[in-house]
Amino acid sequence: MSEKPIILAELEIAQQKALALLAEIQDEEPLQAWKREYLGKSSTVMSAFSSIGQQSKEFRPLVGQVANQVKQALEAALEERARIVTEAALTRKITDERVDVTLPGRQPITGGLHPQTLVLRRIFSIFAEMGFQVYRSRDVESDEHNFELLNIPAHHPARDMWDTFHIDQPGVVLRTHTSPGQIRVMREQAPNPIRAILPGMCYRYEQISSRSEIQFNQVEVLAVGKNITFGDMKGTLNGFVRRLFNADVRTRLRPSYFPFTEPSAEMDVECFVCAGKGCSVCKGSGWLEIMGCGIVHPAVLKNGGYDPEVYSGFAAGMGPERISMLLHKIEDIRYFWGNDARFLEQF
Ligand code: PHE
Repeated sequence: MSEKPIILAELEIAQQKALALLAEIQDEEPLQAWKREYLGKSSTVMSAFSSIGQQSKEFRPLVGQVANQVKQALEAALEERARIVTEAALTRKITDERVDVTLPGRQPITGGLHPQTLVLRRIFSIFAEMGFQVYRSRDVESDEHNFELLNIPAHHPARDMWDTFHIDQPGVVLRTHTSPGQIRVMREQAPNPIRAILPGMCYRYEQISSRSEIQFNQVEVLAVGKNITFGDMKGTLNGFVRRLFNADVRTRLRPSYFPFTEPSAEMDVECFVCAGKGCSVCKGSGWLEIMGCGIVHPAVLKNGGYDPEVYSGFAAGMGPERISMLLHKIEDIRYFWGNDARFLEQF
């Protein structure tokens, strides 16, 4: 009887060690290393199989049997451990990548339309209903269009009302009102009838205050055709004001003077803060001035290419900032172009 082969003892030690180490493994990578070490080609188990041929005959079956048992035991343990490791990895992944759906979301910053864009669109749509088309005219004007052709000759005292920014080049100004657009539309359309509105920025060299800015919008209104009367003007402007403010607001036309209209007027609306009784907004008068208007001066018609004996027209000019101020009870015109988000985001 020969001695028990040493490999049997080695197998037992290897199994114990392997199982002990396996129980500690938490990750996929050490698991693979473990597999190479204890079940790989040069592992004790595998060398036990290849040693069978060198064992004495009587122990060969035993070595084969024990090696098989150890191999199976290690494989079963590996499979079990692999399951645990995979499960743990999944659980870790779920917890690590968890989205806390109860956290309040981050509010996206949304823009909005400028209050002037909003009021201009309202003005456009009301005039559109009455058949008026929007025209754009230039901000940088010739002195000729801004003054001369509107019947305001050089050195006429009326120019004081429209002091503006000049540049080095003589005869070029930033327009002081949208009225020069009247000439441009007329010259483009003559002798066709016109129903136009002309919105845009105007510029004046002014003492800045809560009522006046050096830049502001205007919307010019122009109708030219045959038999257009002061009554048409009154009806159109009243219709506009009632749609803009409310259906039963009272208006009045007060005589005024503009070199490019004759007769000229200012249109006032009844103060809706005090309903005409007199308050600080209307400075006690009960009325708020909202636009200048009048019958287009014959000289202006002629400059636009219309024969004043055949054609007539009316024109008006309003300040949409002033209108927004009335609509929203805004007390300072400088808010519009001050670019302060606290003001702008309220619209
Ligand atoms: N252009 C004038 C102004 O700036 C307003 C106006 C326009 C008056 C058209 C009459 C006719 O004050």
